[in-house]
Amino acid sequence: MRKAVVRGLAAAIGLALAVGAASTGAAAAPSPVTVPASAPGNVAAVPPMGWNDWYTFFCDLDENLIKQTVDAMISTGMRDAGYKYVNLDDCWSAKERDAAGRLQADPAKFPSGIKALADYVHERGMKLGIYGDVGTQTCARYPGSYGHEAVDAQTFADWEVDFVKVDWCFVPFEDFPGKSQQEVAAELYGRWHDAIEATGRPMFFSICVWDPSVKSWEIAGPLGDMWRTSNDYSDSWGAVLGNIDAQAPLADLAGPDKGWNDPDILMVGKGGMTATEYRTQFSMWSMMAAPLLAGNDVRNMSQETLRTLTNTEVIAIDQDPLGRQATRVRDDGDLEVWARPLANGDVAVALLNRSGIAQTITAQASEAGLPTAESYSLRDVWAHQTTKSTGAIRAFVPSHGTAVFRVTQSGDAKAPAVSTSVKIGADAGTEWPVLFPGEPGTVEVVVANDAPMTVTDVRIELVVPDGWDVEGDPVRRERQLGGEREVSVSYAVTPSRDTSGDRTPVTARVTYQYGKNIGSTSGTQLALVVPKPPTGESYLSDLAWLDASSGWQSVTRDREVGGGPINLAGTTYAKGLGLATPGDVTYWVGESCSRLTALAGIDDVVDRVSPAGGTAVFEVYADGEKVFDSGLVRRGAAIPVDVSLTGVSELRLHVADGGDGGYNDRADWADAKVTCA
Ligand code: GLA
Repeated sequence: MRKAVVRGLAAAIGLALAVGAASTGAAAAPSPVTVPASAPGNVAAVPPMGWNDWYTFFCDLDENLIKQTVDAMISTGMRDAGYKYVNLDDCWSAKERDAAGRLQADPAKFPSGIKALADYVHERGMKLGIYGDVGTQTCARYPGSYGHEAVDAQTFADWEVDFVKVDWCFVPFEDFPGKSQQEVAAELYGRWHDAIEATGRPMFFSICVWDPSVKSWEIAGPLGDMWRTSNDYSDSWGAVLGNIDAQAPLADLAGPDKGWNDPDILMVGKGGMTATEYRTQFSMWSMMAAPLLAGNDVRNMSQETLRTLTNTEVIAIDQDPLGRQATRVRDDGDLEVWARPLANGDVAVALLNRSGIAQTITAQASEAGLPTAESYSLRDVWAHQTTKSTGAIRAFVPSHGTAVFRVTQSGDAKAPAVSTSVKIGADAGTEWPVLFPGEPGTVEVVVANDAPMTVTDVRIELVVPDGWDVEGDPVRRERQLGGEREVSVSYAVTPSRDTSGDRTPVTARVTYQYGKNIGSTSGTQLALVVPKPPTGESYLSDLAWLDASSGWQSVTRDREVGGGPINLAGTTYAKGLGLATPGDVTYWVGESCSRLTALAGIDDVVDRVSPAGGTAVFEVYADGEKVFDSGLVRRGAAIPVDVSLTGVSELRLHVADGGDGGYNDRADWADAKVTCA
């Protein structure tokens, strides 16, 4: 916690964005080192790293869990990788204050008390975080701090707590007539700021205004050390993208003497996403100088999860002392380039592929803000390899993956930057990498040499699953490939007749020579081998899709997206698809179907969840053209969908938010089926 000086000024001008640029003089100028560093006197010189119990344990926490977590963070190497904070979230306290009006720990969950827990944590070289709320109750209805800010901050300080997260539930707006929500937030978090400062104990202050309509970031900078930039989210790909997009425009607010934008606790290792998607989350949180608070059960995690969370090269980007949040320097729809200048003059560049297929993304050193140079060293911080390029920063990025490079002007890299991409089914009439069982399709391999030097003896080998056929020799050779050149080779590939559904890897393995050395690169595309739908009627929920994505929760078959049965306007449906907005499901119907029918609507369950949200627009696209548009659909409706599919190959069902945010949007395509020849 810091920035006492600026607070008065901010309150006086009452405007926050202006404050982002104000200088406090509180923090020392960043020194040009690349290791994680925390300047004395400023607990927030770099984004905090640690763990928070909420998303895995919710109210099911106790002192054993916390001690076991501390022990696990030490034995797994997390602590030594930089994870210092162990943070209790909601539900740690008793339901009543003590006789003196102080918060007290739940005696069943924390029989030894919080001070003893803090001692346990401190003895092990770590720090303890705790949770409170500006309102009359916490979100889980434990005592709130409204009117008790000073005593609560002092209690936390007495317990030697190091980190305080303060939530935004049960805010007594009625006590602030005529004030906007933002003004109330400024007032209440201001009280907390002052209360923490008055204790004299340096405690990291995390402002948790989860309601993005309040725009807490506009008032939080002078008050706190980090502040949420999005609402609570879920362990799903769409939700991660949503939080990245929410934080993207706020880069100017982050910095060592400002505080940090907080896209929320990490989902890495919780199980709802793929390892690739979790690496993307970790990469992008680090690019965005976000707090790295693990949210998984670290007592029990896979080696893959641990490798992601403890990749010290990625962590060094997050913790870079210059503290500049990355900006999106290029946005080609699903393919994005992000850049972040680092303290030693390097630039971190992330290539983010939001699409459903592996694609090449190429950035130029100049667009990432690097000065002109004859060559650059590209340090791939996931592959842990350094290569030399004349300026192209290129990677063949898997679907939902992110390549991250630390780029140095010139540098002493010896190995050439050579990359390999694999494109499938360019002749299939769709952008998806589609092949059909028993039918030949085209696979194109491109090898690009971005280095200044020529490589020789290039050997390209296509590797397909057993039982598939490659026409001719799967090995192709090129005597040489010059600098800044690429070579493309094409194969006719036939999947076996019994391949069905799902994604099948097709890999190009490439070796080459430079000087006396052998280099290698490879690229994998996941082929979609799609049988045409069977003749007659088929429920969409029984067919393999090409791709599916959906807002806060993955697409569900025969369930509404929250997991319950499908209910529309009082009727239960055994079959159908459930989507959150924005969402898409794409099928290959290969000109063999005549009709799609369904009932579109918002699942009845939303009424039990909340009066908020729960509106959507339903659309159907046939080969990219809109053929159905429901208009705005509110609760209680079941809109009939009946569209012709004659001559159509690619069928896409789309749901968009109805204009009130994605919250509670549980869009059903009940009874959705295709009729095929
Ligand atoms: C809110 C916050 C979460 C968590 C819960 C606890 O939803 O945004 O991070 O602290 O409250 O109840």
